[in-house]
Amino acid sequence: MMDLRLRGTRVLLGVTGSISAYKAVHLLRTFMSHGADVSVVMTQAATQFVTPLTFEVLSKHAVATDLFTGHENMPHLSLPESADIIVLAPCTANTIASYALGLANDLLSTLLLTTQCPVVIAPAMDGDMWEHAAIKGHVQVLRERGVVVLEPEVGELASGKIGRGRLPEEKTILNAVVETIRSFNDLAGHRMLISAGPTREPLDAVRFLSNGSSGKMGYALARAAEARGAEVILVSGPTNLDVPFGVELIAVNTAEEMFQALLSRFDSSTVLMMTAAVGDFRPRYVLDQKFKKRQWNGEPLELEPTTDILSALSARRTEQVLVGFAAETNDLIANGKEKLQKKRLDMVIVNQVGGPDSAFGNDTNEVAILTKNGQVNQLPRLAKHVLADKILDEIHTFTASSTVTPHESLSQ
Ligand SMILES: Cc1cc2nc3c(=O)[nH]c(=O)nc-3n(C[C@H](O)[C@H](O)[C@H](O)COP(=O)(O)O)c2cc1C
Repeated sequence: MMDLRLRGTRVLLGVTGSISAYKAVHLLRTFMSHGADVSVVMTQAATQFVTPLTFEVLSKHAVATDLFTGHENMPHLSLPESADIIVLAPCTANTIASYALGLANDLLSTLLLTTQCPVVIAPAMDGDMWEHAAIKGHVQVLRERGVVVLEPEVGELASGKIGRGRLPEEKTILNAVVETIRSFNDLAGHRMLISAGPTREPLDAVRFLSNGSSGKMGYALARAAEARGAEVILVSGPTNLDVPFGVELIAVNTAEEMFQALLSRFDSSTVLMMTAAVGDFRPRYVLDQKFKKRQWNGEPLELEPTTDILSALSARRTEQVLVGFAAETNDLIANGKEKLQKKRLDMVIVNQVGGPDSAFGNDTNEVAILTKNGQVNQLPRLAKHVLADKILDEIHTFTASSTVTPHESLSQ
C-alpha cells in the first residue's frame, strides 16, 4: 500500500551549503512520494554543491535562490505563505546561527522571519562545529521558540573523522515532518489555564514558607501549548523563568492569590493544569514587621490550611478538563490514583520529588500519566519540554474522545 502521510502538504525545502546537500535531492523525492508538493529554496552556498536545475526538474517548481531576482517581487513573503511546513535539510551552522539571531541577509534567512508555519531543521556539519558552544546556544534558542531541531547522527564525516554531525537519516527527517504537521495547531480553540512554580506564605514582613518548585514544568507546558495553537494563561508563583512568547502571565505569591487568579479565569477555560506546588499550610498569624529574635519566647509556629484549589475548582467545573500533578516521595501510582478519584480529576501526572532525581528544579522528569478511565502510561525520563508535548498529546486525545470541546461552547 502507498504511504501518503504527507498527502496535500506543501513543503518548503530549504537547502543550505553543506557537503550533504546532494542528499536533499533524494529527500525531495521521498517527500513527493509521500504525497507532498515540494518547493525548494537554496542559499547561494548550496548552489556550489548541487545545481538549482536538479531540484527544479524534480520538484516541477522554479527554485528560488535570491531575494532580489526572479519573477516574484517579494519571494520572502510569498514563498512561506504557500507552505504548510519549512524543512531545512541539510542545515549549516551558518544558517542555524543566522536564524537564531534573526538575521535577514538572504532569501532563506529573510523568509524564516516572516513565516508562521512550523520549521524542522536537519543539521549537518563537522562534529566540532556541532559541539561548539555558539551552535549549542543557538540550537537551544531555536528549540525554545518551538523550532524542531533534530540531532545530527554519529558516523563518518566529510573530514574522514568519526563524530556527531551527519545529516539525520531520511526516515528520521520524514517522521519528524509528519509528526510536526500533525501536532501543529492541534490545540487551537483551547484556552489553557496553567499554574506553575511555588507559592510563598508570609510569616512576617521578610520571611515566608515556600518550597523548591522551579516552575520549569509549568512553563514548558505553557510554551508547548502556545506553540500548538492554544490560548494560554499562566498563573505563576515566583520563578526565575522567562514568560514564554504569546503566553499571558498572572504573577502571584500566596496560595490564596493563586486560587483567586485561577478562579477568575476558570469558567472560560477548557483545560486546567495544576503544576504549581501550592503550599498546603500558611502561618495563622502574619506580622507586618520583621519578627526579632529577642521577641521569640519559644512559642510554636501556628499553621492553618490553605484552600485546596483543585478540589474547589473541581466542584465548580462545567466542561473543563482537570489535570493534576502529584509530587510524591513514595507509592507514586497508588497516591496518584487516590488524588485522581478524591478530587474528581481527568488526569494526574505523578512524579517523584526528593532525592537526586527529584522533579523539583531539574530539566528532566520521569512521570506516569494516570487517566480517570484507568490507564497508566509510565514514561521514561525525558527533558521537560519533550514531556510537555507528551502530556499535551494525552490531553488532546482525551479531549478529542470525550465531550469536551474547545471554547466556542464556553462563555467568553
Ligand atoms: C566543501 C565544503 C563543505 C561544507 N560543508 C558544510 C557542512 O556540512 N555544514 C556546515 O555547516 N558548513 C559547511 N560548509 C561551510 C558552509 O558552506 C559555509 O559556512 C557557508 O557560509 C554556509 O552558507 P549557508 O548557510 O548560507 O548555506 C562547507 C564548506 C565547504 C567548502
